[in-house]
Amino acid sequence: MTFQLKLTREQLCRNEVMDTQHEHLAGIINRFFRCFNRACCHEVAKVTCGALLEELIEEAEEHFSAEDCAMIHTGYPRTDEHRRAHADLLQEAIELFLDMRENRREVDRGFFEQLERWLLEHITDEDIPLGEYLATWAAGHPDVPIPYSVAELGEEPPPIPPDHPAAGELV
Ligand SMILES: [Fe+2]
Ligand SMILES: [Fe+2]
Repeated sequence: MTFQLKLTREQLCRNEVMDTQHEHLAGIINRFFRCFNRACCHEVAKVTCGALLEELIEEAEEHFSAEDCAMIHTGYPRTDEHRRAHADLLQEAIELFLDMRENRREVDRGFFEQLERWLLEHITDEDIPLGEYLATWAAGHPDVPIPYSVAELGEEPPPIPPDHPAAGELV
């Protein structure tokens, strides 16, 4: 089985922090694949490669937080939707990890293709528009650095509002 996740020029967000972090996440997924491909059997692979999937979850969490901070600081209009997408992606990665660990899911081509979609579809649908917005915002605020961490933002991001008002609020 061969697999290589490659980010193309079309998947660049015109934002150095975001693009560097996306490359980093793609690199972890590729290392995870190589680790699985080298292992002599699925049981050994799960033990030796599981840490890479955990690393992916940790790094994704940090990356999503970086984008969240930039969105909050600059007043990005789709902040809530984008942050909800991050929460869903994190949940999906955790479920993949647990499915692998608990033998509910074979780590096959479909598994890696899901990881590929996990990263690339979000970049195309959500991150590229965000990168364009941040570039415009930065041009209009040349002296204001965009924060890419909670420490730089100076406050904890607020909770993500629910997608729809709770049923009780509709009455
Ligand atoms: Fe994002
Ligand atoms: Fe991203």
